Amino acid sequence: MSHPAIAISNLAFRWRPADAFCLELANVTVDAGKSLFLHGPSGSGKSTLLNLIGGVLLPARGSVSLLGQPLGELSASRRDAFRADHLGFIFQQFNLIPYLSGLDNVLLPCRFSARRAKRVSQPEVEARRLIGALDLDPALLGRPAAELSVGQQQRVAAARALIGQPEILIADEPTSALDAERQAAFVELLLSEAGRAGSAVVFVSHDLRLATHFDHSLALAA
Ligand SMILES: Nc1ncnc2c1ncn2[C@@H]1O[C@H](COP(=O)(O)OP(=O)(O)O)[C@@H](O)[C@H]1O
Ligand SMILES: [Mg+2]
Repeated sequence: MSHPAIAISNLAFRWRPADAFCLELANVTVDAGKSLFLHGPSGSGKSTLLNLIGGVLLPARGSVSLLGQPLGELSASRRDAFRADHLGFIFQQFNLIPYLSGLDNVLLPCRFSARRAKRVSQPEVEARRLIGALDLDPALLGRPAAELSVGQQQRVAAARALIGQPEILIADEPTSALDAERQAAFVELLLSEAGRAGSAVVFVSHDLRLATHFDHSLALAA
């Protein structure tokens, strides 16, 4: 039996034990290869939820399971390893290593995860393929990430998240710097590559117009 990519059950989170819960979710599942659009106003807990899904934060109640593995049952170091093996993360500010080339940034997950490295027979060829598929000139991959434009950094961050076919791809408002037309085009390319890799996708944006590109939507209230 195959497990859902993501299964959230009876989840509640608060920043401090004395606080009220700032996030509560009964049941959310994302099946393998499916996509979820997560939206809500600023401060509604979208990034917090992504960090719970990634096991960076742990809930006060309930559980998050990825690929059938409850994250709360793993030690912190096993969670880090699990994340490196199975999750691609596109951060809102991209979090590229500024002095490394675009290419070396894209290749990083293969250094941190033998499992992801094993799925890529020719890492540099795959990095260039991904970058091209995401509509960026692979010739730019030699430049330090700090010298790339925001749109170019976004493509590098997306290729880094996708390399080695992680089962789960998480994207935290990666389009907010783009105009509406380019946002939609980027989402289409990202989903197409995620589909090719078989990755389940959780994509955050406050722009509801993007919802139509995804299998499911979930709204977080302020
Ligand atoms: N490290 C933190 N410590 C305490 N509160 C935080 C922290 N990070 C975020 N918050 C609070 O949690 C709530 C949700 O934040 P966040 O998940 O970043 O929202 P969103 O991504 O939807 O804009 C906000 O009220 C925010 O101020
Ligand atoms: Mg956020």
